[in-house]
Amino acid sequence: MAFRYYYADRVREMMPGYRGTDEDLQEAIDEISLLYKSAIRELETKFKVLSDDFDKRHSYRPIHHVQSRLKTFQSMMEKSLRYGIEDPINNLDVVRREILDIAGVRVVCNYEDDLHIMSSLLLEQEDIELIRMKDYCSHPKESGYRSLHMVVALPVYLVRGKKMVPVEVQFRSIAMDTWASLEHELRYKNREAITDDIVKTLKECAETLHNVDERMSKVRHEVLKDESKYSNF
Ligand code: GTP
Ligand code: MG
Repeated sequence: MAFRYYYADRVREMMPGYRGTDEDLQEAIDEISLLYKSAIRELETKFKVLSDDFDKRHSYRPIHHVQSRLKTFQSMMEKSLRYGIEDPINNLDVVRREILDIAGVRVVCNYEDDLHIMSSLLLEQEDIELIRMKDYCSHPKESGYRSLHMVVALPVYLVRGKKMVPVEVQFRSIAMDTWASLEHELRYKNREAITDDIVKTLKECAETLHNVDERMSKVRHEVLKDESKYSNF
């Protein structure tokens, strides 16, 4: 069983203050992983179903692609310390209450209109509970970043019953995603090289891409002509 405890060993090395046994720690890591992975799968299924139904009704798929990720245990611990959670490794219940992006699902839609449609369709579902929403589409971040963020809780049914699990969902258009992906790559490649001039240029690029997004959207409406087509989904 060396492999099974390998991860707990590494975590223990990183945070030597853990008071339980290796088995307890591994058990806790496995439980978190199962729970949040399952929540991601549930959400991915919801988006697949919506996309298939949209395609069936309108011969159009508003979702370009969905990308999901589970935070590593190490980065959960690092973020907890940054957020001022004391002794996070011995207070995993606090970590799970406070850190709302352990599970993340990014829904990249073709156009901005589509992301609003998909986010409303998700929020209308009765097992989805909205915990918080940050609209960086209408209020872009200082960097130029645009996206619609929400944290939703959804039920995961385990052997011992239902658990509500929070997931951060980021809705973006392809153009928003293009900028965010490239900017993220550049920022993390060489943080020191990011001068004020570069920050300014990146922000201008975000605005240019937003402009392109709006123009493409107009073209799309002209091509589709029938504006009412999606108004009732
Ligand atoms: P975090 O501790 O970073 O999760 O902060 P937060 O909870 O206040 O979340 P926020 O709404 O700022 O969004 C965080 C996530 O949005 C990041 O993990 C990125 O995926 C994305 N994001 C936010 N701002 C930017 C940005 O300026 N550039 C890029 N590329 N991504 C961003
Ligand atoms: Mg985050």
